[in-house]
Amino acid sequence: MSYLASNYNRRKIAFKKGKGSFLYSVDGKKYLDFLSGIAVNTLGHSNPNLIKALNVQAKKVWHVSNSFQIPEGENLAKKLSKRTFAEKVIFVNSGAEANETAIKIARRYFYSIGKPYKNRILCIKNSFHGRTLANIFASGSKKMTEGFGPKVTGFDHFKYGDLKSLKSKISKKTAAIFFETAMGESGIKVHTNKFLKDVRKICNDKNILLILDEVQCGIGRSGKFFAYEYAKVKPDIVPIAKGIGGGFPLGAVLMTKKVSKCMIPGTHGSTYGGNPLAMAIGNTIMNEVFKKGFLLNVRNNSTYFLKRLNLIKKKYPKIIKEIRGIGLLIGIQVNVDLGIFINKLTKNRLLTIRAAENVVRILPPLNVKKKEIDLALKIINNVCSEY
Ligand SMILES: Cc1ncc(COP(=O)(O)O)c(C=O)c1O
Repeated sequence: MSYLASNYNRRKIAFKKGKGSFLYSVDGKKYLDFLSGIAVNTLGHSNPNLIKALNVQAKKVWHVSNSFQIPEGENLAKKLSKRTFAEKVIFVNSGAEANETAIKIARRYFYSIGKPYKNRILCIKNSFHGRTLANIFASGSKKMTEGFGPKVTGFDHFKYGDLKSLKSKISKKTAAIFFETAMGESGIKVHTNKFLKDVRKICNDKNILLILDEVQCGIGRSGKFFAYEYAKVKPDIVPIAKGIGGGFPLGAVLMTKKVSKCMIPGTHGSTYGGNPLAMAIGNTIMNEVFKKGFLLNVRNNSTYFLKRLNLIKKKYPKIIKEIRGIGLLIGIQVNVDLGIFINKLTKNRLLTIRAAENVVRILPPLNVKKKEIDLALKIINNVCSEY
């Protein structure tokens, strides 16, 4: 009997260690980890620079509270701002917390400029922003909200990719349009650059803030530091998490100076958010991701991986319906039972994870090696040939 609550559907595998793109189970098996703790292990497992950063900081100071100056946080906020649209940052601990904070900021911004009626957030129907109360109702998903009423109000929904639907849901009360730049849990769905540009224009015309959730697709996962860079749009607020911590719980909300002015002392806080230990890790991840050639390598590996996956799709059209993705956020939409397909991959020592729309989600570490991609391709091909 387990004393852990049963809110997760756990596979019967436990790991004793990890190294690079591989995980080693307690029963002595070696797995190629192409889910990376769901887009978290940016630099794979046991990265020496991360271990060093953690150890060095652990011997100095772990936690102090946000009632003091935290130079490591100043440093990371500066790095994030110098490299992106952002001018101000709030650190938190997870993606859901980052998203809730983003929603708070959008509402508080309009309150602060004398337009408190502008408080509704327009999201994509059946999207994913995390599991807290506001976020599940932001998702517009029946499955995620069932049993968790009363409804958290203030969210409207439009159809994915449908500008007409989006426009029809905008009102004078709309404070922000809020969606994932490239959608992970929802089935690896990537908005066109045109869609992002059009939404930005609508936001400008109607005095609406654009919040782009880059919790999963950010920090180099898309092949750019942020996925919105492909469309050359400038968001107002960007919540991040997952990859910025590389396995350490860390999230943040990036925003423009204009928007940040509403967040005066007392409006938001988090005990752990941005503590020195987390900041040491975040700074190290940033240093690695911005090393010369790192993001280019992600893009090159993505092109290589997607091209070869499409060849497997051509070979097995009855098994594979579609290859989706951007950067190393990759989806294989299958025509067969998703659970069985993922189990077969797991049996062949390739770890992946499901997404909506019968999609196998593939999220290798961003520093994955070409020969590891080749190994994954071989396993995927073999599993297709087993049907
Ligand atoms: C796009 C997106 N937003 C938010 C979250 C929630 O993040 P967390 O689980 O860290 O709360 C996730 C997690 O999968 C996500 O993919």
